[in-house]
Amino acid sequence: MQIGIDKLGLFTPNTYLDLVMLANARGVDPDKFTIGIGQDQMAIAPLSQDSVTMGANAALDLLEGESRDNISLLILGTESGIDQSKAGAIYIQRLLGLSNARTFEIKEACYGATAGLMTAYDYVAAHPDQKALVIGSDIARYGLETPGEVTQGAGAVAMLVSAQPRLMVLEPETSIHSADIQDFWRPNYSKEAFARGKYSTEQYIEFFQKTWADYRAKTGRTIADFKALAFHLPYTKMGLKALRTILDEGSETQQAQLLERYAESTLYSRQIGNIYTGALYLGFLSLLEHSTNLEAGDRIGLFSYGSGAVSEFFTGILQPGFEKQLAKQKHADLLANRRQLTMVEYETQFQTELPEDGSEYEIDLTMDNAPIILKGVKDHERIYMTR
Ligand code: HMG
Repeated sequence: MQIGIDKLGLFTPNTYLDLVMLANARGVDPDKFTIGIGQDQMAIAPLSQDSVTMGANAALDLLEGESRDNISLLILGTESGIDQSKAGAIYIQRLLGLSNARTFEIKEACYGATAGLMTAYDYVAAHPDQKALVIGSDIARYGLETPGEVTQGAGAVAMLVSAQPRLMVLEPETSIHSADIQDFWRPNYSKEAFARGKYSTEQYIEFFQKTWADYRAKTGRTIADFKALAFHLPYTKMGLKALRTILDEGSETQQAQLLERYAESTLYSRQIGNIYTGALYLGFLSLLEHSTNLEAGDRIGLFSYGSGAVSEFFTGILQPGFEKQLAKQKHADLLANRRQLTMVEYETQFQTELPEDGSEYEIDLTMDNAPIILKGVKDHERIYMTR
């Protein structure tokens, strides 16, 4: 039986910051951000969007015209959870009109959605008539005037996992490397992540090289067996640095093709930024929706990295008609219809928080046109609404 990704959904909030503007405000050469880091814009989440609403909005995008029948597993991978006990996935289940699903939240930094995808794969293998909904949804926050500031972002990707998928069949061989390291983390008392920036980039590359070498040894496949490689994208230069370390294993033509496909995989991330758990799948979606060189039967490699750290290299084969599962125009509109924030608006939005003392708070919803929103809080509860 073949199992894999049947469809992908995307959501990102409708406000963003231009990174040339950020560079100028921080006294940095804009080329450092746009070339050195490889980011042009970053999505900024208003108070009315959190990991629950963004995840639900991404899943709505995917479920448009799809049957909800037989979705009996719902997993949210996030590191922007809103509760220490109750899974954000439970709210999403209600907001999507689903019920009677195995519903929970997974955490392992940016690896969370991949953990969900692999769990969904096993679930569908055991229950072939059932489907799973896997969501990665996050707001990346490092803090104002920090080195990580330019690598923030917000958004979510949802995946429908099923037997006989119409988009990509996942192949069974995967390579994993995990180790307890302290490259990036966020203690319970902090709203912003702590990162050992340079160390984290070195670890990312080392973990990639380890999984790639293991995969090659296990399968005998080489770089020539891949039409494209998609990477976890904390910023778009990061995956490129990892890719470059193995490029000389291929011919000049193969190297050029992989670099072209890589550039296509970065187009959404360049405008949205790091969305942590969803970042690899945002890159994969960008590749599929921008490349005119992919065909059914092509093998795509995917490298997932979650700080802390767990990494996995896995692969899939594109299916006949996979293009019909995409929504390029809709996603182009989602990005084109965003509003650019001023520096003052960005910094104000960044510093505005929901009350934590149980007092009632109504969020100004006038600027947020998303179908699912957070309306406010009351008695320590978040009140969600579908329009
Ligand atoms: P930094 O120290 O400000 O930047 O922070 P830099 O000095 O290293 O410069 C960055 C690049 O810009 C360099 O290129 C410079 O040469 C270049 P590289 O050597 O890397 O190729 N540069 C210029 N280029 C053109 N014109 C110029 C110019 N000036 C400099 N004028 C850092 C960079 C990424 C460390 C920082 O933003 C950071 O700490 N980010 C957060 C951590 C992060 O994203 N780590 C990535 C790996 S870990 C990961 O992926 C997991 C994660 O997603 C979390 C999770 O799992 O949940 C983060």
